[in-house]
Amino acid sequence: MRPSDDEFPSATENEELKAAIRERMAAEGRIPFRQFMAMALYHPQHGYYATPRQRMGRHGDYLTSPEVHPIFGSLVAKQLRQMWQAMGEPQPFTVVEMGAGSGLLARDILGWAGKRAPEFFQALEYRLIEVNEWLVENQRRLLRQVDASLAKVSWLPSLEATAAESVSGCFLSNELLDSFPVHRVVVRDGQLHELYVEWQEDRFVESLAPPSTPLLQDYFHRLGFLPGEGCSAEVNLEAPEWVRAVGSVLRRGFVLTFDYGYPAAELYASWRKDGTLLCFYRHNPSTDPYARLGRQDMTSHVDFTSLVQAGQEHGLESLGLTSQGRFLAALGIAAGLERQADGELSLEEYYARRRAVTELIDPAGLGRIKVLIQAKDVGQPKLSGLEGGEP
Ligand SMILES: C[S@@+](CC[C@H](N)C(=O)[O-])C[C@H]1O[C@@H](n2cnc3c(N)ncnc32)[C@H](O)[C@@H]1O
Repeated sequence: MRPSDDEFPSATENEELKAAIRERMAAEGRIPFRQFMAMALYHPQHGYYATPRQRMGRHGDYLTSPEVHPIFGSLVAKQLRQMWQAMGEPQPFTVVEMGAGSGLLARDILGWAGKRAPEFFQALEYRLIEVNEWLVENQRRLLRQVDASLAKVSWLPSLEATAAESVSGCFLSNELLDSFPVHRVVVRDGQLHELYVEWQEDRFVESLAPPSTPLLQDYFHRLGFLPGEGCSAEVNLEAPEWVRAVGSVLRRGFVLTFDYGYPAAELYASWRKDGTLLCFYRHNPSTDPYARLGRQDMTSHVDFTSLVQAGQEHGLESLGLTSQGRFLAALGIAAGLERQADGELSLEEYYARRRAVTELIDPAGLGRIKVLIQAKDVGQPKLSGLEGGEP
């Protein structure tokens, strides 16, 4: 669905959201940046991710891989089928996709399986978890294209709700973890400080103070180092919590995570002075989280070392970390450059596909997204997506 340019005719920010944040600051004083970001993105009525609007895609604020071309979903489906085979072809094989957005990835996975791998399709059960009710309605409409009665598809209110099913299969997400709210920290004189926000003289003002929670110090203690002196950095405490929760509801199978990020040593390297927090509005990046309140996305890169560590504590062994470019290449994306690869393509379809392939593996763009595969109780199967090696 395409947003109209005059969707927000006069407002460049969401005034109700701003009022709610100011009210909270009036009651509590300064709040950690994490709380500000959580409200800006996820306030239940006025947050960026709560309001009815298409955010991902060429007509939204940012482009994600499923929005580029169905070839992305078909290669992910190929990888899922191999996981299913490595597990001995269980019935059902449940895919839980959290943060499913417009539903395109689900549509393309089910679509590929239905056409190319009927036995796998037979075994597939697809669960979606999405906070935005408006997106859920769109997903329902879209998924009828590949499963008219929605017999294979259902929606769950939260990750915890999967516990009742005790999932055998794969937890899948694309750009979910980089949208979780983050604490922002700064290292001064070897000490960790946290960034807080308050409302003063008609604007949001930042200040540094001791960390709001000992979990921040613990986080770096586990890593064994702090960000460099003078550096500002983000800490996503919810991402490792998410992996722990997934590890405890997954009975047997895999966790396949696509997200922007780095191993901790690279994310918190001393040359990275200003962290990775970025905002997006209609494809324009900005570093100002206080602009266009509730109208712009905010995102920060994921620390994959902490994800791996957290998984290990809950029975998830890392099978490997690679880049999206390598992952897709290893699964055969180059075949998409051949006109005959998918039956006879029209010249227009063929060129669209070529452009998509380049975009999806571009090492300066979507291709640099990391792909982490973790596994529980399935041994050490060889997975094609990891054969291209480390990122
Ligand atoms: C950056 S978008 C990515 C959407 C989609 N995966 C894609 O690649 O196009 C993040 C999505 O995660 C959803 N989301 C964020 N936090 C969530 C949570 N705790 N549970 C379920 N969905 C969540 C948002 O509403 C949004 O649809």
